[in-house]
Amino acid sequence: MGCDGSILIDNGLETDERRAFGHQGVRGFDIIERAKAELEGVCPGTVSCSDIVAMAARDAVVLAKGPSYEVETGRRDGMVSNIRLADNMPDVSDNIQKLKAKFIEKGLSDKDLVILSAAHTIGTTACFFMNQRLYTFPPPSGGGTDPSINPMFLPELQSTCPKNGDVNVRLPIDRGSAETFDSQILQNIRSGFAVLQSDASLYQDEATKRIIDSYFGLLSPFFGPSFEADFASSMVKMGRIGVLTGSQGTIRRVCASFN
Ligand code: HEM
Repeated sequence: MGCDGSILIDNGLETDERRAFGHQGVRGFDIIERAKAELEGVCPGTVSCSDIVAMAARDAVVLAKGPSYEVETGRRDGMVSNIRLADNMPDVSDNIQKLKAKFIEKGLSDKDLVILSAAHTIGTTACFFMNQRLYTFPPPSGGGTDPSINPMFLPELQSTCPKNGDVNVRLPIDRGSAETFDSQILQNIRSGFAVLQSDASLYQDEATKRIIDSYFGLLSPFFGPSFEADFASSMVKMGRIGVLTGSQGTIRRVCASFN
């Protein structure tokens, strides 16, 4: 697993990587395929599907008024799609230690974990991913809800995602600012208004908590780190994971199938 477009393959098989639990909910395959078709029309066999994904992510961030950054290109597409290779994907209910470990395994630091999770500044989640946090949270919390949810926020979440309700109902991940790329997501995490359990857990560890807080110090606007610039560099770093180059892999003609 890496930046090789393997998630895009759709052979209609139960073993396709895109069927992995952690990949449920990934959307926009059609948009990648349309960009690919246009590119193939103009310069066939030149731009890989994995590069298209990386550039589409950049453009999505810009469209949401976030920072622009230079995407490194030259990735080639993988020749394998295997659900097993997605076993190591971070899970929404992983605790902070597990999330950190999974990122470190891919060469990503605690800071990358915080900053890349802040991509949740845009988009929505299905209630499907909220069930454990709202109703079956493991003891010792008692009551089955994640105690890190602000009591002012809990009723709102429970009314959008009622127990045994429709798991396909969607809600913004960044409450109040789901369509704009900004640091509100980090502020929400600080105040118990994180929607995803994995985001909330970033404030339950000294190291990741400190990283979040570093964007909100009194003097941060002048001397602090820049959330936008840090996001851009973490995206470039993530875009180097498991990259195929040179004679490795291929340039697919259609992103959803092998040539
Ligand atoms: C820390 C590990 C992460 C976990 C556990 C996680 C989990 C999730 C979950 C459960 C959803 C909702 C999916 C759905 O219901 O459709 C989601 C959505 C999303 N995630 Fe993550 N995520 C993680 C890291 C990332 C990273 C690294 C990025 C990108 C840099 C990212 C970008 C997004 C975006 C943009 C959405 C919204 C998608 C939409 O609106 O359809 N996430 N994530």
